[in-house]
Amino acid sequence: MSGRVRAVAPAKINLTLHVTGQRADGYHLLDSLVVFTEAGDGLTLADGPGLSLDLTGPAAPALAVEPDNLVLRAARAVGATRAAFTLEKRLPVASGMGGGSSDAAAALKLLAGRGFPPPDTAGLMRLGADLPVCMAAPAPSRMTGLGEGVAPVAGVPALWLLLVNPGQALSTPAVFKALNQRDNPPMPEVLPGWSDAPALAEWLRDMRNDLEPPATALMPGIGDLLAALRAQPGCLLARMTGSGATCFGIFATEGAAQDAARALAAPGRFVLPTRSLPSVR
Ligand code: C5P
Repeated sequence: MSGRVRAVAPAKINLTLHVTGQRADGYHLLDSLVVFTEAGDGLTLADGPGLSLDLTGPAAPALAVEPDNLVLRAARAVGATRAAFTLEKRLPVASGMGGGSSDAAAALKLLAGRGFPPPDTAGLMRLGADLPVCMAAPAPSRMTGLGEGVAPVAGVPALWLLLVNPGQALSTPAVFKALNQRDNPPMPEVLPGWSDAPALAEWLRDMRNDLEPPATALMPGIGDLLAALRAQPGCLLARMTGSGATCFGIFATEGAAQDAARALAAPGRFVLPTRSLPSVR
């Protein structure tokens, strides 16, 4: 190895998250339209005498308590033994934005450039159900099965987003456990493609995040956040991403997203205006 390389680990946003069934082992079948944002964590890889991970950035303290970071587990999974990672952790942890999976996918992509091919889909799933879709980042994708099915989606426009997290972590297993209805309808088999952001937001109104009701039952502040987002001028749609607690608003313009960011800023809250990346046409 030689030199220092850097990658952005973008936030993963589930524009929809339909829970369509549950397997005997307890895992859930999903149907989700996923996009990735320009903003995210930053990961640097340099030569090292062994495997190491330095944490920096505003969300680093929350991660430092974890015994085994997913970045290191991913590196071990591909047999890398001499890699010094620095993770600038900007996205809150356990927040529904796939941060750990996105960081691990960024690590695997950097290591692939150094001659360590990424694991197959089963190997990725052993690291986490969001790993396969994060390997496809930043392409908008449809995620199916337990997370192992990933297909590119054409016709997804760029979106001005505002991401808001109440500053409290939410446990993914706890949210799935609190789910009452596990056999909800999937998205339409054929996704239509959308001319612009308002058309996509309009279509999304008929879709769902099935984890929103159980997450809101566990953390009622999510309902307040969604109401606050919807009340902002130019907000076309507000929804929770993943298992929460981060909520996103889709805004008509960059200015509207930034105005809403100022209006919703509060101590302890994470508020980030950003843009999602479109399908390559
Ligand atoms: O794979 P990952 O570690 O991200 O999954 C976290 C938790 O989310 C699992 O332990 C499980 O409770 C839940 N999950 C699920 N069905 C999926 C993916 C995750 O029930 N398809």
